[in-house]
Formats: sequence, structure tokens, C-alpha cells
Amino acid sequence: MRRRAALTAAALAAGLVLTGCSGSGSGAGGAELSVSGPYMPQPVSADMAAGFLTITNAGGARDELTSVSSDVAGRVTMHSTVGGTMEEKTSFVVPAHGRLVFASGGNHLMFEGLKRKPVRGQTVTVRLTFAESGTRTVEMPVKSATYNPTTGH
Ligand code: CU
Repeated sequence: MRRRAALTAAALAAGLVLTGCSGSGSGAGGAELSVSGPYMPQPVSADMAAGFLTITNAGGARDELTSVSSDVAGRVTMHSTVGGTMEEKTSFVVPAHGRLVFASGGNHLMFEGLKRKPVRGQTVTVRLTFAESGTRTVEMPVKSATYNPTTGH
């Protein structure tokens, strides 16, 4: 009798795990995005600037960054860097349970047609539009031209 009760408990536990899995996989489990570490190095040029940030997806479904805009720029384009050559892209995938990283030397945002020159200490408003999650607004601080996010200065 005792052994049978233990088996029943194990079967129940297994059932609960299975239910939890199918629950998160269907419908409710969309992309869950958060943005971290945004910054813009103070631009050297008067009409163009770069921007960096990380988008983390804690959800079980992928999303796609489809456009970026800002109050300081005529337009913001998205670039990847492949073998030292940068290439404009129309979208970037944010993988499920993964990250999309824009970092110096790699993927980056380019702010073109600057309406004012961003200066260190200021903040630039950036709107990110995603295929599934809609629009997110990020306040991007302007750092020194040589800012390194690893060292923090
Ligand atoms: Cu570029």
C-alpha cells in the first residue's frame, strides 16, 4: 500500500510538470523583452551618431526589431558588422530566451541627420518597434566619445 501511494505521488508530480510545460508553450508565452545598457558615445561628427544597447527576451517566443526612431535624428538605421564591413539591415531577430546585442565593433544603431548634437550628460529618447511586442521607449544616456561599458568610463 505504501509503495503504491508513492507511485501515485510521482505520477501526479509528472503530470503537473507536463501541464506547466504545455501551459507556457501555448498562447500565454510570448516574447518578454527588456532593454539594458543603452548608451550613445558623444558623436565626433555633427550629423551622425552611433547607439548601443542590449535587448533581452525572457519569453518563449522570438520577436523582431523592425524599426528605430529618435527625437534627435532624421532617421535611425540598424547595422550589422560582418568581417569589418558594416551592412544596413531592415530587421534584427530577438531569439526566444536569448539576447540581441548592439555593441561597439558589432551590431549598432546609426542616428543620421542629427537635429542637435548630443552632448555627454544629456539623454536621447529612442523608440524601438518590434513585430510582436509593439513599441518601447528607451532613454539613452550620452557618454564620452571613448566610453567603454565594461569599465564604465
Ligand atoms: Cu553603421
